[in-house]
Amino acid sequence: MYEQVSHSLLNEILIKLNPEIKQQELRHFYTRLGANFYAIYSLFHVLYGERDDFEEQALCLVETMARQYIARSETLKTKDIEREKEHNWFLNQKWVGMALYTDGFSENLTGLNEKLSYFQELGINMIHIMPILQCPDGKSDGGYAVSDFRKVDSRIGSNEDLQLLSESLQKRDILLTLDVVVNHTSDEHDWARRARKGEKKYQDYYYLFDNREIPDMFEESMPEIFPETSPGNFTWNEEMQKWVMTVFNDYQWDLNYSNPQVFIEMLEIILFWSNQGADIIRLDAVAFLWKKIGSASQNEREAHLILQLMKDCCQVTAPGVLFIAEAIVAPVEIIKYFGEDAINAKECEIAYNATLMALLWDAVATKNSKLLYQGLRSLPDKLERATWLNYVRCHDDIGLGFDDTDIRAVGYEPLEHRKFLINYYTGNFSDSDARGFPFGQNQKTGDARISGSLASLVGLETALESNDPQRIENAVQHITLLHSIILSFGGIPLFYYGDEIGQLNDCSFLEDENKAHDSRWTHRPAFDWGKAELRHEKGTIEHKLFNATKKMIAIRKEIPAFADFNNRELIHVENPHLFVFSRFNLLRTTGGVLVVVNFDARPQYLELDDPHIKSVLSYGHLKDLVSGDTPSMFKGQLVIPPYRFYWLTDQQRAS
Ligand code: GLC
Ligand code: GLC
Repeated sequence: MYEQVSHSLLNEILIKLNPEIKQQELRHFYTRLGANFYAIYSLFHVLYGERDDFEEQALCLVETMARQYIARSETLKTKDIEREKEHNWFLNQKWVGMALYTDGFSENLTGLNEKLSYFQELGINMIHIMPILQCPDGKSDGGYAVSDFRKVDSRIGSNEDLQLLSESLQKRDILLTLDVVVNHTSDEHDWARRARKGEKKYQDYYYLFDNREIPDMFEESMPEIFPETSPGNFTWNEEMQKWVMTVFNDYQWDLNYSNPQVFIEMLEIILFWSNQGADIIRLDAVAFLWKKIGSASQNEREAHLILQLMKDCCQVTAPGVLFIAEAIVAPVEIIKYFGEDAINAKECEIAYNATLMALLWDAVATKNSKLLYQGLRSLPDKLERATWLNYVRCHDDIGLGFDDTDIRAVGYEPLEHRKFLINYYTGNFSDSDARGFPFGQNQKTGDARISGSLASLVGLETALESNDPQRIENAVQHITLLHSIILSFGGIPLFYYGDEIGQLNDCSFLEDENKAHDSRWTHRPAFDWGKAELRHEKGTIEHKLFNATKKMIAIRKEIPAFADFNNRELIHVENPHLFVFSRFNLLRTTGGVLVVVNFDARPQYLELDDPHIKSVLSYGHLKDLVSGDTPSMFKGQLVIPPYRFYWLTDQQRAS
């Protein structure tokens, strides 16, 4: 593709632009369009170039970007310009996130707006509000089956309420993250309704088939996502007399991105919510965007091209807005959502670090970091201007998605090891206090995932019932220890609401027929404000957890080495119970931190006489940043108490 071609098309488009658009003051828009158009054109052409109406579609794409640019407020446009200047702004260690359900946390958006000081008290300055758009009652998949992409669900509030919330957040310098469910719509979305009524235009928005011929071909190689509740990948629709592709639940219809109109519609929705003040857009289930017979229909090259195109277009209209990729896939695949073959991220700037998350749960169960170390070691460095979202729990299940080769490399048999972990967390292993539930069990493959709240999975519920102070203490330490890792690892830590006060499983969902079959609801509770009040009462679990978290967050924000510039070194140590890594400043001379975590129930020892450790701690005047203490040494080795962690600095090299 030559630049002349894209250039002359751009000229033609600019001539044909709707006169209303032409009249506007669009200087920044045109500069960015000029800078990005070659990339936009090339991607759009690879995806849709075969079509007769390609140029018409390209015009429609540019008009969509321009319209949303015109609709963007001056305040947001100013923010865009600031962020373009300071384009690594989100790699700073000052950002700490939390994900929550509006109705779980505070009933509705207005209530949430009144509770913002809670986040500030803890130090949270990025909130991910779980999906709030209109969904059918019951068949909502927790907000991920959207029936109107432009309307806040009336049970949670209105678009105006969201506007007010976004303004309050801006004043407090708290970032707002919103979801756009790009892969599918609810079967009650207007497009789906019209498709059912036989409108060809909207039938082309989905994957519809008259008989089983093609669905059968697809299913030969497509895995099932919800095997228990929604087996298969297609659903028969009586009204249309057609099979509809429904990869997730049978009421979630997959959008057909080989139709450029679908791409343009979804881009417009992304830009619409960017214009409502979202700083970050979480793009849901991005691995699934392209379907191909003979493949798993996940992580396809075209899915990446679609995301790159979305990013390039967003760069023109709303360049201050970041994308989070929710791609819970194999470790080597996840990293590609930053963009392949690039230096700077060119798809999504942020991605869920599902690899770290799953590996942490492995370390808790095995009490060692063998697989954690091996799994992380196998991951390539991420791109520049890209960062991880590091989390321990979220609204979804825990999938044991690490690599079989890594499992074997540390001496386990993959099938047996996964079985052990499932048993460990779901109450089928005698030496475990964990209280999780299986999710997505697949009889055909033997596969299963895990649900449960952080506190219940690390044994707090069992410990409280047995009223055993030592076990309670162990669970509390586990919560703090896991949070200490997401806070220091490099990336944006994402807390899950309630975990900061040790909220337990909530089994009330079993009484709701729309939820009872989906164990993920056990960890999507109503936030317990009574329990949260106990954070002010010394001696309570809530006080311990909340204050430990608050302190770690405050310290993180002061340590430049905790910013994310690929400035981490995993350190291999002889003692398998320990997980050790260093964080350093770019010049490496001062300010380095050694993070040491003990996953075991007994004290462990670390040999400090190691060149990798010495590169951050050379004089041996150690201080733990969190407790402020000098940790104990025994026979020249560092002693790490059970389930404890250190953020160590060298006093002589400290500043
Ligand atoms: C995403 C969401 C999950 C949902 C799925 C289907 O993975 O995180 O909760 O079930 O998409 O929409
Ligand atoms: C699968 C999907 C992921 C989704 C999850 C929901 O793991 O890959 O996108 O969040 O299922 O359970």
